[in-house]
Amino acid sequence: MEKYVIRGGKPLVGDVNIGGAKNAAVAILPATILAGGKCLIENLPCISDVMASLQILSELGASIRMVSRSTYEIDTSHLDSTEVSNELSRQMRASYYFLGALLGRFGSGQVAMPGGCNLGPRPIDQHLKAFTAFGAEDSVEYGQIHVRSEHLVGGHVFFDTVSVGATMNAMLAAVLAEGTTILENVAREMHGCNYSIIPDQIEAGSYMVAAAITKGDITLHNVIPKHMEPITAKLRAAGCEVEEFDDALRIRRTGELKPLKLKTMPHPGFPTDMQPLMTALLTLAKGTSIVTEGIWENRFRYVDELIHMGANIQVDGQVAVIEGVKELHPAPLRATDLRAGAAMVMAALAANGVSEVDETIHIERGYENIVEKLQALGADIRRVEIPANAVSRAI
Ligand code: EPU
Repeated sequence: MEKYVIRGGKPLVGDVNIGGAKNAAVAILPATILAGGKCLIENLPCISDVMASLQILSELGASIRMVSRSTYEIDTSHLDSTEVSNELSRQMRASYYFLGALLGRFGSGQVAMPGGCNLGPRPIDQHLKAFTAFGAEDSVEYGQIHVRSEHLVGGHVFFDTVSVGATMNAMLAAVLAEGTTILENVAREMHGCNYSIIPDQIEAGSYMVAAAITKGDITLHNVIPKHMEPITAKLRAAGCEVEEFDDALRIRRTGELKPLKLKTMPHPGFPTDMQPLMTALLTLAKGTSIVTEGIWENRFRYVDELIHMGANIQVDGQVAVIEGVKELHPAPLRATDLRAGAAMVMAALAANGVSEVDETIHIERGYENIVEKLQALGADIRRVEIPANAVSRAI
């Protein structure tokens, strides 16, 4: 296991390249199953969730050729299994996309109950509702979800809740189903079938917060400024200057941070995955901020870590009230999930002195080379291996 050791208090200055979007990549990789041939996928981020998706494809029988660090050729002509192994299913949430893709191509798919960040209950009833509407049967036994259909037909689905995962899974299953499918009340963050993965909005937003929280000046390359608008608007309201270019953004902060009210909502609203990062930032704003989580039931578990650093935050259900403090103090911190982990890194970069962030495995599921990218911006951050005996003593 690894931890990050961070000496904070330095403004981050310089340029950073943003990788492909994790949440697009982990859906497009299973979608290659539907092609039943060769696909070239570009701009794949080098993160553990992508590596796990590639490994699943390979275990199902796909041939995979690495063309460059971020480009892979995937040939799904001859798959010989429709069952995703338990170990890989449990590593990430997005393993559920293999259900829709395998059902669509072969009429049968099996994955173990997916893993991923613990953000409260993460049901998949809406995914199964769509598969059922297409004539499939499902069973959940011993932690295995199995879907099957002799003859998949298009159907009409009205989702009870707006779900990114259920919308994508229904589309994956519907592509090869006979007839027309109509999906209503869908998630709207889809971007056609461009095989070059779109830039990661949340990775970009995280580096924007890094500039804002350290009073830095960072230019982000390979971003789509339009996709960043909800985040840009809030950071401007918090007192940052943001300049937009064709595929770059420059963000700097020179003055004080201003408090904000924000509520996370389905796309195109403010993204829930930025919520922990914004909360970390607002601990240093002058005045009272209110952050409301509109998607997940339990996405404030990391707040205790910020309180250890001297932040003043009260959480009541889905609402956090943040009284800004003058400074954050260094502390031992835990990455409770992927985005909360990134928020801890940003908070540590702002605190004068040495903090340590544990359980960084969560962070590396979704951030490509985060340590190296932050170092290039002038951060004093190191990855340190935790000896196995120290881990077992801690447990
Ligand atoms: N929901 C249901 N039933 C379902 C599916 C979802 O009730 O069958 C509920 C959930 O409990 C939640 C809401 O609907 O309250 C939204 O869930 P959604 O299905 O949209 O989330 P997801 O597809 O599991 C993706 C991202 C998350 C991101 C959410 C919301 C992936 C792999 N994950 O999750 O990203 O928070 O959409 O935008 O695409 C992250 O990157 O850190 C992350 C957690």
